[in-house]
Amino acid sequence: MSNINILAIESSCDDTSAAVIQNGKVLSNCVANQEIHTLYGGVVPEVASRAHQENIVPIVDVALQQAGIKKEEINAVAFTRGPGLVGSLIVGISFAKAYALSLGIPLIEVNHLQAHVLAHFAREPYPVFPFLCLTVSGGHTQIIIVKDHLEMELIGSTLDDAAGEAFDKTGKLLGLDYPAGPLIDHYAQKGEPRFEFPEPKIQGLNFSFSGLKTAILYFLRDNLKQDPDFIKNNLNDICASVQQRIVSILLSKLKRASRETGIKEIAIAGGVSANSALRQGIKSLEKKMQWNTYIPEFEFCTDNAAMIGVTGYYKYLKGEFTDQSVTPLARWNV
Ligand code: KG4
Ligand code: ZN
Repeated sequence: MSNINILAIESSCDDTSAAVIQNGKVLSNCVANQEIHTLYGGVVPEVASRAHQENIVPIVDVALQQAGIKKEEINAVAFTRGPGLVGSLIVGISFAKAYALSLGIPLIEVNHLQAHVLAHFAREPYPVFPFLCLTVSGGHTQIIIVKDHLEMELIGSTLDDAAGEAFDKTGKLLGLDYPAGPLIDHYAQKGEPRFEFPEPKIQGLNFSFSGLKTAILYFLRDNLKQDPDFIKNNLNDICASVQQRIVSILLSKLKRASRETGIKEIAIAGGVSANSALRQGIKSLEKKMQWNTYIPEFEFCTDNAAMIGVTGYYKYLKGEFTDQSVTPLARWNV
């Protein structure tokens, strides 16, 4: 049987990424980060879409070169249709459409959140169906029952901020650069979680992080009144305390989801799954909860086109193609 080569494009937020997937395996996965947003303390949509325009052609060239694949060998183009910033998505979608049209090959639309889950199929060992996936990113916090590659059921999500936003907004209060998640993780490893932040009382499997943000704001305000250098003198311990609380909120809902569904195959996905405390926390529950856990390699945690290509491959096998009239979706559930 001949190879199935998929070119994948991801441009939903502030990273432009291209990948080549052959028969479901990752041949290349290239990401152009947009560091310019650090200057503004967050992603500026207009700036992001302009940077995507500059990056997309070179990043696709690099992805093809690294994969050792010529454009004539590509069988389909997969792209992120949403959810995400419309101005960013439209750059990737327009590129994908033009590429597919010029080569006379099919287009495959991919849901970014479904792709974060299927990042687990970028490298073996693959999770066993059905499994639970906690997807934690800058825009989303979800617990999903994954029944098959393309069959997913959302059973819990955040009512306000996402877990990544909780990290990033805390970072802003602490005067850290955007995105603050990796920095908080870094400082937390040198600190002790000696400050107590409240655990929100949210029913069922949903999450809320906005109360935590307010608690941190008041905690810093009160302490800065006593000691203007409070943040500087206690940065590691503040980071360790906030991180511990965010992770404990995530893990307590995941344990509950496992108890309620009886599912013990447990995966995490999305940018926040790069967090060291979350990774350790999940591992340490393996024995106690009798879980089999799946933690993606760092490369496949944050936004990347490999996960779009892997999802595209499973859609290709089912003949799920889209046409040239496709438009971006700012919101789109799994
Ligand atoms: O999945 P992702 O790359 O983009 C979205 O789809 O949102 O996730 C980005 C988020 C940001 O909020 C970033 O601060 C967070 O992931 N993040 C982390 C870590 N690495 C990235 N949060 C905590 N600890 C980390 N090590
Ligand atoms: Zn993402």
